[in-house]
Amino acid sequence: MAAADPSSTAGDHVPHDRVAEITRFEDSKLGVKGLVDSGLGAIPGFFIHPAETLSSLRPGRPGVDLIPTIDLAGADSDRRAEIVERVSRACRELGFFQIINHGVPVEALDRAIGAVRAFHEGPPEEKAGMYTRETKTGVSFFSNIDLFQSKAASWRDTLQIRLAPTLPSLEDIPEVCRSEVVEWNQHIQQLGSLLLGLLSEGLGLDMGRLEGLTCLGTRIMVAHYYPYCPEPDRTVGIASHTDPGVITLLLQNHMGGLQIKKDEEWVEVEPVPGALVINVGDILQIISNDEYKSVEHRVLANPSKEPRVSIAVFCNPSNREDSFGPIPELISPQKPALFQQFLFTDYLRRFFAKELDGKSLVNFYRL
Ligand code: OGA
Ligand code: NI
Repeated sequence: MAAADPSSTAGDHVPHDRVAEITRFEDSKLGVKGLVDSGLGAIPGFFIHPAETLSSLRPGRPGVDLIPTIDLAGADSDRRAEIVERVSRACRELGFFQIINHGVPVEALDRAIGAVRAFHEGPPEEKAGMYTRETKTGVSFFSNIDLFQSKAASWRDTLQIRLAPTLPSLEDIPEVCRSEVVEWNQHIQQLGSLLLGLLSEGLGLDMGRLEGLTCLGTRIMVAHYYPYCPEPDRTVGIASHTDPGVITLLLQNHMGGLQIKKDEEWVEVEPVPGALVINVGDILQIISNDEYKSVEHRVLANPSKEPRVSIAVFCNPSNREDSFGPIPELISPQKPALFQQFLFTDYLRRFFAKELDGKSLVNFYRL
């Protein structure tokens, strides 16, 4: 998922009483946490997912042996070749990996999670005052980016902050997390640059190639809060989707529930202390001409009283007027371009017109 879009409209397929229920929820401006705080014992009907989703909701296969945790120590020196090889393999086979010794101090990870949690657990009237689907100021609070497009809503709330090309005015960032957001952005910028270098080399390209395409130029932070769900067997925390951007850098707290789809089977992305989760987005799959894979993932609804908190930063190209498509060096007679060229603005418009779902966007541009 990604940034909220003001131009989204209600889907035509939704029956009227459902629209009324969703609208009441939206107008409360209190999100899912507001429902939980009101003490409800059952989830409202519009959160209930279709039977085929519900029948797949169970802890996934343990991922520890499958999803690599890559130690980045020495990435700028003696271990670079080995690290590039591991990152490249993970992006080709799974589209997901975890990293440790990534240069972001453990205290900064804890501070970021703590600050996001403090925001979501702060005064409801302050959050309600920020509740919006507009992105004008670069800061917004809402529940379910695709509330009006999806078949069923999911059990989470989101604080979204634009980090780049420019941070919002500092006074627009909630005070409880202001310094932490500024600090997080600095860490993510540095780490994002290191990762894009490794990812470029993993494709056999110069280290600066992806950054040269402005792949780090737009960064959107989405800070999710997955409160206790009284009926975790009837809904999800975030529905199965792929991320639209280039790469996502994700910090999750220790609660678990993130799963990726591998050969039609769900696999857990277990929280690793001190680690960040990195995944390939649709744009990177396209510009890498299918070398790297953007993989479906989801989060189960949280059955515990303790909240699940996560912070994703989506990196997107900032150059929106140029056309994008497979990088020329990755096209050859043996491997022709598998995708058409397109404008990034067109791509985003298509993303926001639909619900979070599987791989429809990648396939739309496939030749
Ligand atoms: C997302 C996402 C996972 C998480 O925001 O796109 O996949 O752990 N989040 O919150
Ligand atoms: Ni995602």
